[in-house]
This record gives sequence, structure tokens and C-alpha cells, in this order.
Amino acid sequence: MIGTGYVGLVSGACFADLGNTVYCVDKDKKKIEILNNGKVPIYEPGLNEIVKKNFLSGRLVFTSDLEKAVKNSDIIFICVGTPSSKKKRSADLSYVFMAAKQISKFINKFKIIVTKSTVPVTTGDKIEKIILKKRSKKFFEIVSNPEFLREGEAIRDFRFPDRIVVGSNNKKISKKLEALYEPLIKKGANFFSTNRRGAEMIKYASNAFLATKISYINEIANLCEKTDVNIEDVSIGMGLDKRIGGRFLRPGPAYGGSCFPKDTKALTITGDLYKTDLSIIKSVIKSNSKRKIILINRVKKILSNKIKNKKIAILGVTFKPNTDDMRESTSLVAIPYLHTLGAKINYYDPSGFKKEFSKFKNVVYCKNMNDACLKVDLIIIHTEWDEFKSIDFKKISKNKKIKVYDMRNLYSSKKMNNLGINYYSIGR
Ligand SMILES: NC(=O)c1ccc[n+]([C@@H]2O[C@H](COP(=O)([O-])OP(=O)(O)OC[C@H]3O[C@@H](n4cnc5c(N)ncnc54)[C@H](O)[C@@H]3O)[C@@H](O)[C@H]2O)c1
Repeated sequence: MIGTGYVGLVSGACFADLGNTVYCVDKDKKKIEILNNGKVPIYEPGLNEIVKKNFLSGRLVFTSDLEKAVKNSDIIFICVGTPSSKKKRSADLSYVFMAAKQISKFINKFKIIVTKSTVPVTTGDKIEKIILKKRSKKFFEIVSNPEFLREGEAIRDFRFPDRIVVGSNNKKISKKLEALYEPLIKKGANFFSTNRRGAEMIKYASNAFLATKISYINEIANLCEKTDVNIEDVSIGMGLDKRIGGRFLRPGPAYGGSCFPKDTKALTITGDLYKTDLSIIKSVIKSNSKRKIILINRVKKILSNKIKNKKIAILGVTFKPNTDDMRESTSLVAIPYLHTLGAKINYYDPSGFKKEFSKFKNVVYCKNMNDACLKVDLIIIHTEWDEFKSIDFKKISKNKKIKVYDMRNLYSSKKMNNLGINYYSIGR
């Protein structure tokens, strides 16, 4: 595995758990040192145990020595980041191309080189060209095997994936990948093979579709708030239609995380490059940025536009529960904005302190929910971590007039109103 981040580490540990010998390589020496000291640098439920077990068995090796890893491996997965490029919003492929260049120097026998990173269609062709500068075609094959795991559920998603997609222009190589994944296929995972460009496209098209579903239900929630309709009933009623399906129909903050925002943008840039207007995805991106403003305006309204010196507790700042990933979380926009308006913010997240907020004077990290909520004017539930699901708001805040803005609809409006809590939620 070249790149030992969320994808490389989870996949590497899980492949080792299936009996393979795996070298997890990272250029970040500190990360490798942490792993070699028996610690895991990211928060992902269940990962510690798998890493520990396989590290101790010797099947899982952490190293910065890319040469040793490449020379000793038959299959090499590129799992480096593909963030949005600073200027163009397209995918920044510099890490992928750098990894390809480095791999090409150490190909000592036939290698299957697999792109697990999310890369725009035709990237496989470009990687092939880079490697051809050092090695002839008989020494390698480039394959696309996009990753669909979800942070927070990554181990389960690796072990029981809905589908495994492999894109190769060579049938024999597809079969080799199928053999690698055989233990998962035997347990019921669908294996789907197509050509290389097809697999690259499937990943982007899937992420953009899921982002569309979230933005769609968020906009319908906006309308429900104005028409006195309960969005939850709408989601259930819609989801019962098998053509639609109930998942990803829960309204909340703007979609965030390390994938949807960058992948939707990158796909529209690919569309533009090929003179194809992906107008639906473009409007999803717009809708999602507007969402952040809509929710902040709602906070202003809840506090009657008097934000200065108001004490606000924010519960959960990651973009979703069971991860420490802060990339593109709505909290990164909302907290600085409320701070600028003069709010005093306590935040608590089960995954710990976030360096992203350390520069704001009146944004304080609290070690637990009780400290965060003490005597605040408003509690905002931003991320649906389990521990936020049965809070005694009056007790925890010691404020009889506590206001609660539940951005995840974790509580019943009726019950909250009966308790005399000023309760606001999404689309209800
Ligand atoms: N995070 C997810 O939930 C998820 C899910 C599916 C797909 N993906 C895709 O997988 C890819 C990786 O995502 P991630 O979240 O794991 O990224 P990440 O930023 O957590 O990890 C990438 C790692 O690669 C390392 N790296 C970069 N260049 C290197 C090189 N030349 N040699 C060795 N190491 C190198 C970095 O130091 C970093 O540790 C992205 O393309 C992403 O879109 C991510």
C-alpha cells in the first residue's frame, strides 16, 4: 500500500488479516513511527485491534522504504490523497503521479499496480505512460480498483462490501484481483469487472449521486420547514419506493468529508474538459455551499439575531460520527463565522481536540459534554455521535431557558416541547 492514510491503513490491515503479507508505506515518517510504536494515528472503530494483531504476526509491515516494499510485492496499491487542487477545483494528481514515478524505479519483476485513490477518468492511462518511461509493458499492468469504504464503518465496509469494482483492460489481471478478493466474494460481496476507465468513472458517478441525494433531501427539508410538513415522514414515504431507497435521505448539515466535496467538483471539471455540462452536479455543489449559510442563518434566528457574547455549545465537529476526519466539515465554516459575530463557543467532540479551531480566542475545546454545555444559551448538535442521543438538556446546561438546535433530528420535537425545551431541528 503506497500511502498509509484512512484508505491505505484500513485496506492494508484488512488484507493482512486475510493472510497476505502487506507493506504499508508512507512518506510521513512520523506516521510510520507511531504505527511501529503500536499506535494508530487515526480514529476508526475496530482498527486498533486488527492493526495490532497483524503487526505482531509480522504480516503487516510499516515502512518509509518504498524500494523494499515495491521489490517485495506482487500487487501494489496506490492509496495516496487526491485533494482538490488549490486553483482549479480539479483533483490534484501530483501525489499519484509522484507515487507512480517512485514505483517505476523499483520494478524488479512483473507487478500489478492498482489505483485505489479516487482519480479522474484516464488517470490510469497517464500512470501507465509514467511507468513506461522506466519499464516496458511486459513488467506491469495498471488496474483501477476504486475504494468505497466509509470512514467510521471502514472495517465493516472492507469485510462486507456491497461491491468490489475492478477496472482492467486485461482479463487475466482482473482474474488475479478477483482471486485476491476471493475471501470477501465467498462471503457474498459482488465482484464487478469492467475496463479501467469504466471503474474510474463508477467511483465518481457513485459519489456524485450520493451527494445529490443528500442535497436533494436537504432542499426538501427547507420546504418542509415552511409548509409545516415533517421531513422524516417524507424520507420514510419516499424511501419505501425500492427505486428510490431510504438511505442517504436524512437531512442535516451540508455534506462534507474528504470525498464528496472534492469528488463532485473534480467530476464537473472532467465534464468541462470533455465539453460536457454536468449541470445537475454543478447545482448540487451550489446547493451544498448555500446549505452552510442557511444553517448559520437559522442559528442567528434562534438567537434573535443577538449573537454577541452568547454562549454556544457545539456537540460534535467532525463531518460524521466515528471518525476524527475534519476535512470539509460544516463546523469549519460555522464555528469561525459565529466567532466573528461575537459568540463564545465551547465545543466537544468524542474524537478530541481539533487544531483547526486553536487560533480562535473564544472557541474552547471541552474534554466532556458536561463542561461544554454548562450555562450556555444554545446547544447545537452538529454530529450524530451515539453519546449525544440521550441528553438531559436542562440538567446538563443548568439553564432553564436552554435552546437546542438539533441538526441531526436525534430527538422527538414533541417530547422536547413537552419538557419545555426550546427545540429546533431540521425540516420539522
Ligand atoms: N477517506 C475515505 O473515506 C476515502 C474513501 C474512498 C476513497 N478515498 C480516496 O482514497 C485516497 C486516499 O484517501 P485518504 O483519505 O486515505 O487520504 P489520506 O490523506 O488520509 O492519506 C494519504 C497518505 O498518503 C501519503 N503519501 C502521499 N504521497 C506518498 C508517496 N509518494 N509515498 C508514500 N506515501 C505517500 C500521505 O503522507 C498520507 O499519509 C483519495 O484519493 C480518496 O479520495 C478515500
